[in-house]
Amino acid sequence: MTHALSRRGVALWLVFAASLAVAADGARAVPAAEVEAAPVAEEQYDVIIVGAGMAGIVAARMLTDAGLRVTVLEARERVGGRLVALQVPGGAIDQGAMWIHGGEAGNAVYDAAVEANLTLSPRQNYGSLTLFDAQGARSSPASYLRAYTQLNSRLIPQMAALRATPGAPDTSLAAEYSAFLDSATLSPQQVDQANVIMHTRWQALLNGNITRLSVLRLNDAKVLPAVDVMLEGGMPALADELAQGLDVLLDTVVTGIEHSADLVVVRTEGGETFTAKHAVVTLPLGLLKSGAVAFTPALPEEKAAAIDSMGYGLLDKAIFVFNTSFWDTGSDFLLREMPDWSGRWSVFLNYQKLFPSVKALVAIHVADTALALEGMSDDEVVDEGMAVLRQMYGPDVPEPIQTSVTRWAADPFSAGSYSYFAVGNPRNMTRALAAPVGRLLFAGEATSDKPASVLGAYLSGVREAERILTLRGDGNYSYGLAPPSVEAALQAAG
Ligand SMILES: *[C@@H]1O[C@H](CO)[C@@H](O)[C@H](O)[C@H]1NC(C)=O
Ligand SMILES: *[C@@H]1O[C@H](CO)[C@@H](O)[C@H](O)[C@H]1NC(C)=O
Ligand SMILES: *[C@@H]1O[C@H](CO)[C@@H](O)[C@H](O)[C@H]1NC(C)=O
Ligand SMILES: *[C@@H]1O[C@H](CO)[C@@H](O)[C@H](O)[C@H]1NC(C)=O
Ligand SMILES: *[C@@H]1O[C@H](CO)[C@@H](O)[C@H](O)[C@H]1NC(C)=O
Repeated sequence: MTHALSRRGVALWLVFAASLAVAADGARAVPAAEVEAAPVAEEQYDVIIVGAGMAGIVAARMLTDAGLRVTVLEARERVGGRLVALQVPGGAIDQGAMWIHGGEAGNAVYDAAVEANLTLSPRQNYGSLTLFDAQGARSSPASYLRAYTQLNSRLIPQMAALRATPGAPDTSLAAEYSAFLDSATLSPQQVDQANVIMHTRWQALLNGNITRLSVLRLNDAKVLPAVDVMLEGGMPALADELAQGLDVLLDTVVTGIEHSADLVVVRTEGGETFTAKHAVVTLPLGLLKSGAVAFTPALPEEKAAAIDSMGYGLLDKAIFVFNTSFWDTGSDFLLREMPDWSGRWSVFLNYQKLFPSVKALVAIHVADTALALEGMSDDEVVDEGMAVLRQMYGPDVPEPIQTSVTRWAADPFSAGSYSYFAVGNPRNMTRALAAPVGRLLFAGEATSDKPASVLGAYLSGVREAERILTLRGDGNYSYGLAPPSVEAALQAAG
C-alpha cells in the first residue's frame, strides 16, 4: 500500500510542536505508579488502537507492517465502524458512508480501493435530477433553475463577502439564508425550491441543521458538486481488505483509558485490561462527547472544549428495494420541494443509476428530522416513505421487496454520523481534536483536515501512524505533521 501523505517541512513541524510539548508535559504530571498498580495483562503492546473504523485500520496496518506490536480493540462484532452495507438482490447498499468524495487518482481512499481491485461506480451526477413539488406533482425545471440562479447570485456572494471580512463574527446558515429569502423575489413555489437546494447543498451534505451550520466554515469540510464515486459491493470491502491479517479483537467494548508518562492502560466492559506504550483513540466524536469512555486523567481543557463544541450530526437512510423500477431511472436524485426546512422525504437517491442491477431508492434524512424518524418504528417509516412515493408515482407503486432503516444516533458505538463545523467553530478545531495528550494519540474523521469524510479518517490514521513511527522510543512528542493545504488556509484566513 502506498500512502498519499509524506513527511512535511521541518518548519511546519515546529509550528505544531509547542502545543504537543505542553500536552506531553501535562500527562507527565500524573503519578505513573497509580497506573502501573492496575492489574495489567501479561502482554504489553507497542500500540493499542481503539476502534476498527477506517482510521484505526489504516493506523494499525501501517504500524503492524512496520513491525510494531499492535492490537485493535473494536466494540462491534465487525470491522469498518461507520462503513456497513446491506446485501440486496443485485448488489449491496451502503448504510453508512457511501461516497468517496474527490474520487480520483491521488485520493488515498480511491487509490486504496483501486489497489484492492474493488470496482468503482461511475461518478455521481448531482445535476441529474427529477423534481416534484411538495404535493408530489412533477415540477418545472425552468422555475427551479431560476430559484437556483437567485441563490447563486445573491446568497453565495453575500456569504463570501462575510467570509472575506476580517474578524466578521460567525453566524448560522439559517440567518444568512433567511435574509436571502427576505430580499429575493421568489414565488411561493420558488421558496420551496430554494429550500430543497439549500437542503441538498448544505444540510444533507454536512449532516447538520441549517440553524447550527457555520457560515464562516461552510466550505471547509466538503462542498457540492464534487467528484463522488461509490464502491460496488459497498464500502466495507475496503475496510475488510485493509484489515486483513491485523490483530483485531471484536466485541471488545472499551470503557476506560488511563495514561501516564510511561504507559497506557485500556479497560474493557468485560473487565480486561490491555497495556501499551501508546494508544490511538479513533472513537467517533459522538462517543467522545457522550463520555462513554472515561479518560484518567481527564482530557485537557482545550481538547475537552473542542469535543464539546465541534458539531456532530446525523444522517440516516431509509432503503427501499423493489422488484421493478417504476421511477425515473435516468436521474441520480429524485427531489421533492420543501415548504419547510425539515427535508422529510425530500431526497431520494436512485441507486440504480450507478449500479444498474440494484433496483433501489435510498431516502436520506439528516439532523433533527432524522432523529425524529429514529423515534418511529421501521414499519411507520417505511409506510410514510411509500405514501410519498405513491404521491409521486401513483397508487400502482408496488410494495418494496426489502427495506432497511438506519439509526446512527441510537447506535451506541457511533452516537450519530459525522462531524460538521457548527457556528463559532474555528477552522483549527479539528487540530485541537487531533492533538496528542501524552501517550494518547487521536485519529478519526473529526480529527482530520478533511473532516466528515472517509478520506479524512484514512489520512488521520496515516498521520498518527507516522507520528508514532517518528518517535524514537523516548516519549518525545516534540514534532508534528502539518498538512500544508490547511496551513495555507489558516494563514489566508489570518
Ligand atoms: C489485484 O489484481 C492484480 C491483477 O490481477 C493482482 O496482481 C493483485 O494481487 C490483486 N490485488 C488484490 C489485493 O487482490
Ligand atoms: C418479486 O419477484 C419475486 C420473483 O419473481 C416474486 O417471487 C415476488 O413475489 C415479487 N415480490 C413482489 C413484492 O412483487
Ligand atoms: C432544523 O431546525 C429547524 C428549526 O428547529 C426545523 O424546523 C427543521 O425541520 C430542522 N431541519 C432538519 C433537517 O433537521
Ligand atoms: C487555533 O487557533 C487559535 C487562534 O489562532 C490558537 O490560539 C489555538 O492555539 C489554535 N489551536 C490549535 C489546536 O492549533
Ligand atoms: C525532542 O525532539 C526534538 C526534535 O527532534 C528535539 O529538538 C528536542 O530536543 C527533543 N526533546 C527532548 C526532551 O528530548
